[in-house]
Amino acid sequence: MATVVGAVTSSHVPAIGRAIAKNLQQDPYWKPFFDGYPPAQAWLAQAKPDVAVIFYNDHGLNFFLDKLPTFAVGAAPEYRNADEGWGIPTVQPFTGDPALSWHLIESLVADEFDITMCQEMLVDHAATLPMALLWPGGGKCPVCIVPIAMNHVQHPLPSPKRCFRLGQAVGRALDAWNADARVVVIGTGGLSHQLDGKRAGFINKPFDLMCMDAMVDNPEKLARYSTLDIIREAGAQGTELMAWIAARGALTGRVTRIHSNYHVPISNTATGMMVLQNDAQPIQARAA
Ligand code: DHB
Ligand code: FE
Repeated sequence: MATVVGAVTSSHVPAIGRAIAKNLQQDPYWKPFFDGYPPAQAWLAQAKPDVAVIFYNDHGLNFFLDKLPTFAVGAAPEYRNADEGWGIPTVQPFTGDPALSWHLIESLVADEFDITMCQEMLVDHAATLPMALLWPGGGKCPVCIVPIAMNHVQHPLPSPKRCFRLGQAVGRALDAWNADARVVVIGTGGLSHQLDGKRAGFINKPFDLMCMDAMVDNPEKLARYSTLDIIREAGAQGTELMAWIAARGALTGRVTRIHSNYHVPISNTATGMMVLQNDAQPIQARAA
C-alpha cells in the first residue's frame, strides 16, 4: 500500500524565483526566508517520497478567468512550466504519475467531487517555486508530481471547509492506493497578503501564527472559517491558505510538526513554511 509520509506547506512568491536565479540565499533580505528550507530538504531526504501531490492555485498560466475550474487534477505524463511574465527563469518539465492521477480522479469523483481532469496542464510559480525550494539545484526534479489546482482567484471560491474535505478525500484515496509508493503532499501559497486595492500590503502575523499552530492539531478550526473571514484576516490573496488546509486534510495519521519557519515580508507577503510528518494509525484508531 502507498505510504503518505507527510505534508510540506510553503509560500510561493514569484520573487523567490529571481532570488534563486541570482543565488541570493545568503543575502540579508533573503537569508531568513531561505534558512527555512534545509531542514525540510533533510526531512525529505530521509522520508524518500516517490511522488508529490501538490495543492496550489494557478495564477493565469494554465487557466484564465474565461475558463476556471474550482478544482482540477492533473493526469498528464509531463507538466511543463512557461513564462508568466514575472521575470523568473522557467524550470525543466516535471514528470507526472498518470496511474496515481487516474486513481485520485476516480476516487474523488466516486466521492462526489466533480473535478476537472487535465491530460495537459502547465504548472506556474505556485507549483514550481516550492519544488525548487525543496529540491534545489535546478536539475530534474527527483519526484513525480500530481498537481491539483484550486481556484483562489475568481469568486466564488470554494470554501475552506470544501477545500479541507477535498484534502480528506485525497487522503482517503492515497491510503487506499494499491501501490508500493511513498507520497508527500504539498500545499502552496499564503500566508497573509493582499496585492491590490485599499489594503494592498496587508499582513496579519498573529493570525498567520495561529493558523500554523492549528495546522498541526486543529485543522478543523481553519476549515470552519468562511472565505470572507479569511479575506478579512489574511488579505484578499491570503485565501491561498486554503491550499494548506487541503494538504493538511490529506494527512489521516498522527501528525507532528517537524519544522516550520515564518518571515515577513518577502515582496508583499508574510511567508511561512511547515513540515508535518504523518504516522499511520491503526485502522481501529482511525475509525474511532
Ligand atoms: C506575490 C505573492 C503571491 O502569492 C503571488 O502569487 C504573486 C505575488 C507577492 O507578494 O509579490
Ligand atoms: Fe499566489
